Amino acid sequence: MTRTLRRRRIAEDNSEMDDARLDRPDRLTIAIDGPSGAGKGTVARAVAARLGYRHIDTGAMYRAVAWKARQEGIDLADEPRVAAVAERAVFDLGSGRVVIDGHDVAAAIRTPEIDRAATTVARHPAVRRVLVARQHALGEGGGVVMEGRDIGTVVFPDADVKIYLDASPEERARRRASDPAHTSSKSAQLSDVATALAERDRNDSTRAASPLAIAPDATVVDTTGVPIDVVIEDVLALIRSVR
Ligand code: DC
Repeated sequence: MTRTLRRRRIAEDNSEMDDARLDRPDRLTIAIDGPSGAGKGTVARAVAARLGYRHIDTGAMYRAVAWKARQEGIDLADEPRVAAVAERAVFDLGSGRVVIDGHDVAAAIRTPEIDRAATTVARHPAVRRVLVARQHALGEGGGVVMEGRDIGTVVFPDADVKIYLDASPEERARRRASDPAHTSSKSAQLSDVATALAERDRNDSTRAASPLAIAPDATVVDTTGVPIDVVIEDVLALIRSVR
């Protein structure tokens, strides 16, 4: 049964103590899934920092593979060649760092071209098999907050905590349009951003291989109209509540 998180008051004075307790002895695996612009990145990063856990942005891995395949002049429709790029890739991820094969691509992967290219690459089952295995290895041992589209359904179906972050399409487009990390967004019309986002949502949700889906045991957190720091506290409260 999918549960919907209700906003709740948090005993602020206890939160640091609870966070420290959460950090030890248990090393939880926390899965955060949801569509673009739902706030996954901000929330996952902040929750990981508060718990002293690693933060892994799996979308950045699909983006980096798309970037590398383009660099090598590979046709993105060529599934075996793109999967080979994913297989060979040496990643250095974490603390906002996205390095593939020695190239720091943290900025280069946040463009409209790579938005589209990553969506194409993520449709290929062979690419997903390689990246899912690598993500599983990266998260082994717990103490990790991993964000993506299929973390609670495919990568870590036994995650200790599964969160599905969502927001209305209008709010997600507004957030994406004002996101300084996205180079397109500064000059783009809100309506263009909304159209591109809707297209990616459609692609991510209707693809045959591991489409974006809500795990049956995930807690859905609707962030529409909720300040991001409140969402972060809600998610931390939820994590405390499962222990
Ligand atoms: O979260 P993002 O926008 O950076 O993701 C980039 C693309 O990769 C997007 O089309 C969704 C896809 N993706 C995926 O299919 N599975 C994941 N675990 C993460 C991202």
